[in-house]
Amino acid sequence: MCRSQPMRWPSGKAWFLVVEQARAVDPGCQSEAEGRGHPDTALDIQGCCGSRAAGWCGRTPSSLTLLGLETPAPPSSMAPYHIRKYQERDRPRVLDLFSKGMEEHAPTTFRHILKLPRTLALLLGVPLALFLASGSWLLVSVTSLALLTALRFFSKYPWIQFKVLCLRSDLSDITKSYLSEPGSCFWVAEADGQVLGMVGVLPAAESPLRREQLQLFHLCVASECRGQGVAKALVRTVLQFARDQGYSQVVLHTTMLQRSAVALYQRMGFQKTGQFFSSLNWRLFAIPSCVFVYPLPSAQASQAQGQAGGP
Ligand SMILES: CC(C)(COP(=O)(O)OP(=O)(O)OC[C@H]1O[C@@H](n2cnc3c(N)ncnc32)[C@H](O)[C@@H]1OP(=O)(O)O)[C@@H](O)C(=O)NCCC(=O)NCCS
Repeated sequence: MCRSQPMRWPSGKAWFLVVEQARAVDPGCQSEAEGRGHPDTALDIQGCCGSRAAGWCGRTPSSLTLLGLETPAPPSSMAPYHIRKYQERDRPRVLDLFSKGMEEHAPTTFRHILKLPRTLALLLGVPLALFLASGSWLLVSVTSLALLTALRFFSKYPWIQFKVLCLRSDLSDITKSYLSEPGSCFWVAEADGQVLGMVGVLPAAESPLRREQLQLFHLCVASECRGQGVAKALVRTVLQFARDQGYSQVVLHTTMLQRSAVALYQRMGFQKTGQFFSSLNWRLFAIPSCVFVYPLPSAQASQAQGQAGGP
């Protein structure tokens, strides 16, 4: 279905997306897919919700169909994927993707914790104190090892805690949380009948009624399918949905430790507007949540119009 190894390719190398269909079929989740110039090379996908839009991505030129034009065959490295609305049968795979997507940040968190001054003080201070008290190198070695093991274990903790929180709240019933009200949605990217990516949106808690901010949640792509534009296509689906639903901003929270996600959001035009500690654990580990905002052009245009004295 996908490349067996995750990979990144340098910016500017050729890549392809095929948009086959662009008609929305779901009134509660309406958007359309369209081909447009990609900053690097050729074509890109913009939004496809419950539609039959499909994409192929690859590194080498091959065939391509765009809205009825001459169609090159998709590269063999990746099967065509499409983005559609979540269905209950997707639940096990979606939860699995989410769990793995969170757990994978533990090693980065461990490295981050090791660099904190308070950790260095602990790792040097405790063994030194023990050595001065006992003169035993063995005790020093065992203590250092035990401290490192404990830190490695605790580096998983904030992610596990976040995972449990989500599994008990919005992800406990995805249909109810994301698909029962207009103005919210949950999509999956699917290829060969297998879910390989996901993302959800809800009106931001601060402005649930005013349709101002749409908040993006749980963007995740299977590790073996990364670096092929799937997340980008999912985010574009969100942006198109937000436009269609009349939101003025798309907002999301992430941490700077989620480096791929931060790179993706920044590359797509999201701006970091602030940061905060979502709980004591995150503060303890010095991992702030960052707020990223994508102002929608229609909202920007009306703001500019307002400033210029327009209606
Ligand atoms: C973040 C994530 C969704 C990206 O998925 P993806 O399908 O690999 O992303 P894409 O292929 O669409 O990449 C789009 C852009 O993101 C950036 N990007 C993504 N992964 C990157 C990486 N590892 N290093 C640098 N840039 C990266 C690039 O700018 C890329 O654009 P480019 O290829 O044109 O340069 C994926 O890594 C993931 O699921 N991570 C774990 C879960 C997670 O942390 N989710 C974020 C929740 S806020």
